[in-house]
Amino acid sequence: MSNPLPTLTVREWIQAGAAKFEQAGVWFGHGSDNAHDEAAELVFFAAGLRHEDAASVYNQPVSAEQAARINELFEKRIHQRVPAAYLTHRMWFAGHEFYVDERALVPRSPIAELIEARFEPWIRRDRIRTLLDIGTGSGCIAIAAALALPAVRVDASDVSPEALEVAKINIARFALEERVRAVQSDVFEGLASARYDVIVSNPPYVGDEEMAQLPHEYSREPRMALHSGSDGLDVTRRILLGAREHMSDGGILIVEVGNSEMALQESYPDVPFMWLEFERGGGGVFVLTAEELEAYFGEK
Ligand SMILES: C[S@@+](CC[C@H](N)C(=O)[O-])C[C@H]1O[C@@H](n2cnc3c(N)ncnc32)[C@H](O)[C@@H]1O
Repeated sequence: MSNPLPTLTVREWIQAGAAKFEQAGVWFGHGSDNAHDEAAELVFFAAGLRHEDAASVYNQPVSAEQAARINELFEKRIHQRVPAAYLTHRMWFAGHEFYVDERALVPRSPIAELIEARFEPWIRRDRIRTLLDIGTGSGCIAIAAALALPAVRVDASDVSPEALEVAKINIARFALEERVRAVQSDVFEGLASARYDVIVSNPPYVGDEEMAQLPHEYSREPRMALHSGSDGLDVTRRILLGAREHMSDGGILIVEVGNSEMALQESYPDVPFMWLEFERGGGGVFVLTAEELEAYFGEK
């Protein structure tokens, strides 16, 4: 028979979890960047507590039942390297809580900040009527944009039918079926002749070399959500080549390429990519206007 778990407070469980995570060399790259926050999310979830109540519940004792649930999540986090969001099936993005599972990437794109700013100053918010999110995964970018811009119609596209199932769960959760359409499409191939004022994408952008070195936690995510050819830029090149044909005059393209920023700039040395800075961290996101796309990649 295993030893009963000691009676500890919420705070003590968080401290114990954080210490275990650090000792085990767990990787934090899926929403939290430190052991304390990761442990806190698992403890609060397993104990059925709300983060808003943190101050009043920190010194509360954890029951034997709650302790068993917390312990089980800690074990999975450490020994199976499952990112916390896949254990709790939830992740916050642009201030909204999304359902997540292993069919779609864990939301974490810095594009959340652009959505919160309603894409200003890159395009006037009242200028946006239609938006396309390529590689929507859980639907987080498409849905957060629809919530930030209540008059906008959004196409949430992905080549993966499994990811689209997750996106549909979130579209229904936010009751956005009237304005957000989940579309299966290989980049632009399933979109006929539609044109959009904003095309936004967090496509797969990891190359062979970086892929081989990723911490184990990333292998829990769909490979096609991460890997994109030897230099990580296969999908991005297709987006650049096809975007103008699917964009209205005065529209903009926003794409995240993360660590592949240098490789992209070297591939297209003349293209005036506008690389954005973010208050909450992250980078490798560029903006190009319709005019720039036309000048450098052709096809209006
Ligand atoms: C990095 S994930 C981004 C998911 C989500 N937009 C987010 O930010 O959390 C990339 C997504 O692109 C999708 N994808 C990969 N190749 C694609 C392609 N050729 N056409 C459309 N989507 C693609 C993957 O299935 C995955 O959902």
